[in-house]
Order: sequence, then structure tokens, then C-alpha cells
Amino acid sequence: MSAPDYVTHAGLKKWVNKMAELCTPDQVVWCDGSDEEYDRLCQELVDAGTFIKLNEEKRPGSFLARSDPSDVARVEDRTFICSRAEDEAGPTNNWADPDEMMETLQGLFTGSMRGRTMYVIPFSMGPIGSNISQTGVEITDSAYVVVNMKIMTRMGRAAVEALGSDGYFVPCMHTVGAPLEPGDTDVAWPCNPDVKYIVHFPETREIWSYGSGYGGNALLGKKCLALRIASNMARDEGWLAEHMLIMGVTDPKGEKTFVAGAFPSACGKTNFAMMVPPKAFRDEGWKVTTVGDDIAWIKPGDDGKLYAINPESGYFGVAPGTSFKTNPSAMESIRKNSIFTNVALTDDGDVWWEGMDGDPPAHAIDWQGKDWTPDSETNASHPNARFTAPASQNPALDPAWDDPKGVPISAFIFGGRRSGTIPLVVQSFNWAYGVFMAATVGSETTAAAFGQQGVVRRDPFAMLPFAGYHMGSYINHWLSFGRNIHNPPRIFEVNWFRRDEDGGFVWPGFGENMRILEWIVGRAKGRAVGVESPLGWMPRYEDINWKGLEDFTEEDFYACMAVDRPEWDSELLQVEELFMKLHNELPSEMIAIRALTKGALWRSPKHWEMNPDPT
Ligand code: OXD
Ligand code: MN
Repeated sequence: MSAPDYVTHAGLKKWVNKMAELCTPDQVVWCDGSDEEYDRLCQELVDAGTFIKLNEEKRPGSFLARSDPSDVARVEDRTFICSRAEDEAGPTNNWADPDEMMETLQGLFTGSMRGRTMYVIPFSMGPIGSNISQTGVEITDSAYVVVNMKIMTRMGRAAVEALGSDGYFVPCMHTVGAPLEPGDTDVAWPCNPDVKYIVHFPETREIWSYGSGYGGNALLGKKCLALRIASNMARDEGWLAEHMLIMGVTDPKGEKTFVAGAFPSACGKTNFAMMVPPKAFRDEGWKVTTVGDDIAWIKPGDDGKLYAINPESGYFGVAPGTSFKTNPSAMESIRKNSIFTNVALTDDGDVWWEGMDGDPPAHAIDWQGKDWTPDSETNASHPNARFTAPASQNPALDPAWDDPKGVPISAFIFGGRRSGTIPLVVQSFNWAYGVFMAATVGSETTAAAFGQQGVVRRDPFAMLPFAGYHMGSYINHWLSFGRNIHNPPRIFEVNWFRRDEDGGFVWPGFGENMRILEWIVGRAKGRAVGVESPLGWMPRYEDINWKGLEDFTEEDFYACMAVDRPEWDSELLQVEELFMKLHNELPSEMIAIRALTKGALWRSPKHWEMNPDPT
């Protein structure tokens, strides 16, 4: 199909033709983003065996897909940043020579869509018309990608019309890498089990993805464009592209404060973004609303404040562990019109996963299509099973989530999954100390995600897999960015995951995080008090609102807050290891702050006894 009349962009049409010549699909379809198109493609996916339609009464308008067992997650070891100079990509990214990589890709893409349909998906990351948004065009041979992109981005006719006849777009090439010869029958989840490449060319701002149909490997607006390519744009143009949730916190007086938070994958970012405050807080009038759960693009406004948008329009969340207890708003968001991938199918045509409320079903079909019962030795759903749900279905969606202006950010929160060392909450002394906190964030790996359990993986800014250039320069960009802002947001580090000697969590988590958030918002607005500690400003027991959690004692709080010197000595050694790795681009401020922190550490059991005067 040639381009529809509303496509007036000669450069776009030329590129699409060139890619069609390279990939030789049976047909080319320009996606208009309409509901009719979505419904038609979902039906085609059902007919092809990729989708199973779920029970219309229990889960209206929703589908289940099961991926190939070789294609279940992002492939970090197959992800490349192909900058001209190897040093530009830095030591935390895989690099390959761009010319050589392009030659490899041209070979792989030649004829790669034989027997398939090539879909052209124009999409906007961010509200159409926002000066913070960007346009991409993804070419893919996967209808599964098209329908997921419909939920996750503003895609189709509106995006291409906004592009006009000469607007800038990021070209995003994707193929599952499984051409069909005449007479071949297709499989339910086509992919290339042996060859995968997720490639970024930061200078030419191109993305080429081969061999996977799953998540961030294939929905190229998300990690590839909105983080790896956008981080390069942001550095060059003076803004921030971050792996951050954005939430609105409304206090009982009705004053709203927006905060953005960066957490490595698998640290409950979606749960935090959709947090329901405890009843005592709700009764007082506190409210938390979601702007975004994964990515924030942040630009300085004319008034000197920082404005953030969520470039996405849906949630691609991890299903296992999501329940009415951990995340009621996510459960409401996925009641209908959602796509589930690699979860279990119940006998009544609904979905189930480990950690869902209630008892497990007596029988289900697991994510690999096999019979499953609670006695089975394997999980019913894959640990990285996902739901794709429209943001508009989130009952706690912030009214400004789609505002082209963005929302003003007053605080940044960084955190990882740490069983010790990092206290429940600390505010950095200033922007540079905050950058140090963010640059040194670590998270303990979970067996499912990264192999060895309990090892701290340093994940600066929660961007380790997503920064599209040298991590040392990334830290430098943050430092210089802050220097140019008159009243920068306050920076905090949190740790919801500290454990006691018996291995139990010392902080109850989930909605109770509201108590910490209240202190953070109070500090950001210059109201709440804190005392000095070696790491920054911390609340005392009496600085936190304990209404409704009165049996949480001062001693319990101390167990969450203690700064243990031997633990910190070892922490700072690990930080040194990271800094050595980044040394050739690392700003010297980081080395100085590390030394100052080491010098400041004390043996006091309680920071508020050492330093009782609040500020
Ligand atoms: C994600 C991730 O899927 O960070 O959002 O891995
Ligand atoms: Mn993420």
C-alpha cells in the first residue's frame, strides 16, 4: 500500500520505500492508529494463534500472548551503542564500529520480512504538540508490536500529521528476523532464537532491532528511543531523558507537588507511581496521582522550573507480584482493553500470575501453554510476564498527565533494592551531593533478572542499561545541568528494602511509603525538618507522620535509618570501583564527595542523638 494522502513528508516516504526494498515484505501497511485498525489486527493475531482472546465478561477487550521461550526479556548483552568513537559509548555499554555494524544489519535485514507485512508506525513520544515531545517512525513486521505501540504511544495519523512535510523523526527499524518462504507455516511467536541485535546509532539517531518481538527489544519508542537515543539528544540540547516515574502528591490543603523517581528495573517503580496512601492519610486529604511509571523527559521552562512529561501513554508493567494489595490502581488499569504476555490462562478464560490476590487456581495453562497446578514445580507465569494497559484506565491518573507543558518537578528520588547500608530516606546536602547519590545507586540483583542473587549491581541513575553514551559524561551532564538552574529540585535517596537479621523487611513498604513521601515533599517545599547526618539530611522519628501505624516504634524506625560505618566503608570501596571504571570521563566532584563522605562517617547509632538540632 502506498502512503495515504495525509502523509506529506517526502523524506519519510523515501525512507519507507528504501526499507521496503531492503526487507522485501509481501505488503506495506501504513498504520493510522484508529480503533478499527487495532481491532482488525487483534483479530488477525487471534487467527494466527499469537493472541488468545480472554473471557469477554471477565476481561473485556483483552488478549493473552505467549512468547517463544527464547524471547522473554530485554537482551542487554545484545544491545549496542554504535557511536563513532568507542570511548563515546563508555565502559558500561557494548560498542561496535558503526560502519561494520551497519553492514551486518544490512545483511540481516535483506529479505528479512519475506512473506510478512511491513507496518509503518508513526508515533509521538509525549503529547502531540508539546515542545518536549519527539516523533519516531517504527517499521516492523510484527502486528503484536503495532497493537502494543497503539497502547504505549500516541501513534498513527495524528503523529504523522504533526510531523508535517519536513518534521524531524527518529527512524526505528524492527524485524522479528523470521522470513517465511512460500509454503512455510508461521509460528505463534515468530522471532529469531539465535540472532538478536538491538542497535543504536547515537550520532545519526537511528535504531535497528533484529530478532526479538518482546518488550523493550521491539517496542522501540520505549527504552531505545525514549532513553538511549533521547539521552543523547538531551545532553546535546540541555535537557534530561530519565528512567523515572512522575507522580503528583496532593496535601490536605490541596497543594500539589510533583516528584520524579528513578529506580532500577524490578524495584517496584510502577507500584510507587500508583501508590494508594494509607487510610489515615486519605482521610486527611492526601492523594497520589500518576503522571508516568517509567520514563520522564524534563526540560527547563522559561520560569526557571523544570517541566516533565511522560513520553508514554500506557504501562508495560511486570505482572507477577501485582495485586490489589501491592498496586490496586494497576489492577484497575488492566481490567479491560489490555494485552497480557507470558502470564497463565485460567480455565475460565482469565489471567493469573504468582502474587495475584487470593488462592492460586486449581488448574491453569502456564506461560508455555502447558497444564499447571499449584503442585507444579515451575511458575505458571514467567517472572518477566507483562501487561500492556492504557494509562487512561488508571483510576489515579493525574489530570495533567497529557499536558503538553509538562508538570513542574520539585524533587528527585533515587533508590535501589538494598538489604543493608542505605537508610530509608536521606536528602542530599545540595545538587552535587545528590548527583553523587544518584551516580552511586546500587541494587541487589534478583535471581530471575540477572543470575546471581544478592549481588549489588551499581546502576547510576537507574540508567545503566539505558544511557546512550559514556556514563561518566552522563554524571557530568547532570552536574552542569544543575548549575544552570536557579532553584533546582531537591534530591533524595530512599531504600524500601532493608532487611533485619532474620531476613524480613524492616519497612512495611507499599502505601506506607506515603509517610516518607510526605517528608520529602515537605523538605522540597522548605517546610519539614531534618537533622544532619554523614550522608545528608534525615528525618527524626518525630518528623514523620505515624498516624495509623502507631505500633511502628522509634526502634523500628532506627532499624530502617541507621548508618553503619563498616557497611559504609565497604560501600565506598565499591563506589571507588565504579569510579575507576568511569575514570576518564568522571567529574572530579564525584571523587571529592566520596572522600568527604568517608571523612564524615561516624559511629553514632542514631543520627538525631548526635545532632539534635533540626534544620
Ligand atoms: C522496564 C525495565 O521494562 O526497566 O521498564 O526493564
Ligand atoms: Mn523501566
